[in-house]
Amino acid sequence: MREATTISVGGPAPYDVVVGSGVRHGLAPVLGGATTVAVVADPAVAAVADAVASSLQGAARRVVRLDLVSGEAVKSVAEAARLWDELGSMPLTRSDALVAVGGGATTDLVGFVAATWLRGVRVAHVPTTLLGMVDAAVGGKTGLNIAAGKNLVGAFHPPVSVAVDLDVLATLPPAEWVNGIPEVIKTGFIADPVILDLVEADPAAATRPDGAVARELIERTIRVKAKVVSEDLREAGLREILNYGHTLGHAIERRESYSWPHGHAVSVGLVFAAALARSAGRLDDSTASRHRRVLDALGLPTRYPADALPDLMEGMRVDKKARGDRLRFVVLDGLARPGVLEAPSLALLAEAYSEVAS
Ligand code: GLY
Repeated sequence: MREATTISVGGPAPYDVVVGSGVRHGLAPVLGGATTVAVVADPAVAAVADAVASSLQGAARRVVRLDLVSGEAVKSVAEAARLWDELGSMPLTRSDALVAVGGGATTDLVGFVAATWLRGVRVAHVPTTLLGMVDAAVGGKTGLNIAAGKNLVGAFHPPVSVAVDLDVLATLPPAEWVNGIPEVIKTGFIADPVILDLVEADPAAATRPDGAVARELIERTIRVKAKVVSEDLREAGLREILNYGHTLGHAIERRESYSWPHGHAVSVGLVFAAALARSAGRLDDSTASRHRRVLDALGLPTRYPADALPDLMEGMRVDKKARGDRLRFVVLDGLARPGVLEAPSLALLAEAYSEVAS
């Protein structure tokens, strides 16, 4: 069996992301000094959380297991309040810790509760989806959703450790794996083209968690994210590149009332961002068309209804990454050369949109 890989994340509160088989059982050393550890999970992966809790017996005097609600619904003020109440009744003190087990929604919510409980307690993440492993659990962004939009309430609160256990992928539904792939492809375009070469060499393998390149895709994507957030935890500059494809993607999710998987919306958003850069004269034809080719090969959507542009424009204006009323897009000036396009004209946006319109 291959050894675990450790990817260090720097910045004000450094930590390691450990990738490998069985690493979910190795959290005890990073939770030293805790009297109580609360292992909080999506009930869909309760068995994984139970095993994590068992591995922590002995590291803390008391290990408490809690389940939240499943899926995106967990990112609510009500679930945060329920968890705060549970922590209050334990009580979970400043020297104690939380462990989140689940997809990106679970790690976002538990991370937010960790950021706010007693003004900040330690949290370790055990992500159980591809999206969680390569994106949500790494980088310290936490958040919850309110009626006005997704992730509008949140805090930066880096975890003390992230255990990316490849064994948990065995039970991941294939659609959940594919939902995480656009973040991997995004990373290929903004920073690590070897990812694109690996996917293009065998697209079928890339669509499976047990495919030959799964681990390499995960590790490469995490390495890029770790480097970016090490330099810019609070998204004051460089971190913005991780938003490639997300401006239109978020507007699609909003228009679909969040019934579209995030990855599908980002997939269309990546093709649109490439078209925008090409229309603006910043990106060559071959790199732009590579976006649709690779995403099509993975069975991901790359088109969206032609008449949706006015709704999407409205959605992009309220995106939390917009500055005032100026739209702002991460674009490419070449492969692995991300830049920013600010306040594009309506004509330019419409020309680019015509390339994703169905
Ligand atoms: N998911 C984008 C970021 O973490 O900045």
